[in-house]
Amino acid sequence: DWTMGAYREEMIEKIRAQVGDKKVICALSGGVDSSVTGILLHEAIGDQLTCVFVDHGLLRLGEAEQVVKMFRENYNLNLIHADESALFLGQLEGVSDPEVKRKTIGRLFIEVFQKYANEIEGAEFLAQGTLYPDVIESVSFSGGPSVTIKSHHNVGGLPEKMGLKLVEPLRELFKDEVRALGRELGLPQSFIGRHPFPGPGLAIRCPGEITGEKLDILRRADAVYIDQIRKHGLYDEIWQAFAAILPMRTVGVMGDGRTYDYALALRAVTSVDGMTADYYPFSHDFLSETATRIINEVKGVNRVFYDCTSKPPGTIELE
Ligand code: XMP
Repeated sequence: DWTMGAYREEMIEKIRAQVGDKKVICALSGGVDSSVTGILLHEAIGDQLTCVFVDHGLLRLGEAEQVVKMFRENYNLNLIHADESALFLGQLEGVSDPEVKRKTIGRLFIEVFQKYANEIEGAEFLAQGTLYPDVIESVSFSGGPSVTIKSHHNVGGLPEKMGLKLVEPLRELFKDEVRALGRELGLPQSFIGRHPFPGPGLAIRCPGEITGEKLDILRRADAVYIDQIRKHGLYDEIWQAFAAILPMRTVGVMGDGRTYDYALALRAVTSVDGMTADYYPFSHDFLSETATRIINEVKGVNRVFYDCTSKPPGTIELE
């Protein structure tokens, strides 16, 4: 795409002009926006950039390793892998209220990022993957204009009081343009086409209290579910698909024994912008095959539900 090629060159010049010889930090989530921002900045200013990937312990199976590996193998940028899972999971212990979960994660993320930023001497700029819709605020995922349904946390939400100047190279772009730019920058298609994943991660897919055991079951079940979706060639038809672990155990039978294990909810939706969504109409064959695989492959689960709620009245995430 020649237009994106030109945009890339133009942005690189602008970044150089803005930053000069100063240092920049960037929070990477593994999502498209922050990845493209990091890679573009790296092309422009090389070693003056440090990226921080905060692992809050609420990522999917193998996700932290995949993100770090992708960056280390494809881009030679300064990357700090901040494993702060013990801190986040410790502070979330005993918390079951969705808003308290969201606010706790958002607050800790800022604290942790600040801590790493302080260690980078002479950092004057913060790079963020703000897009045009974020700028004009025409797209808000948090409900109507006056009611806050969910307190959002994402890597772009770092406060101005950090005292850093902002570099926002994607401010003029829409999501599909960011994807095109990502392709232009050599970001693998597997990254560009990934379903959205919320900042608070698996915390909001685990209604009730979060425990290590539940997260482990959830990660493994989610991986089987996504594998099924990919194998059936449905991944790109779906806006977002994930498993959630329900705060209940139910009775089942395995061989001639009784089981008393967790129940899972599977969710899949189609959507254009995340504001409204329809549940995805999987075939019965797909659903029964998937339920059977999850129960056989994931110890601790003996029942699987499929969520047929659209948005509204449901939201996409369970919390
Ligand atoms: P809901 O659940 O509000 O989600 O229907 C709409 C879209 O937003 C994502 N989502 C979030 N993304 N930080 C994010 O970066 C958040 O706190 C957050 N909460 C929800 C959700 O996955 C869906 O794509």
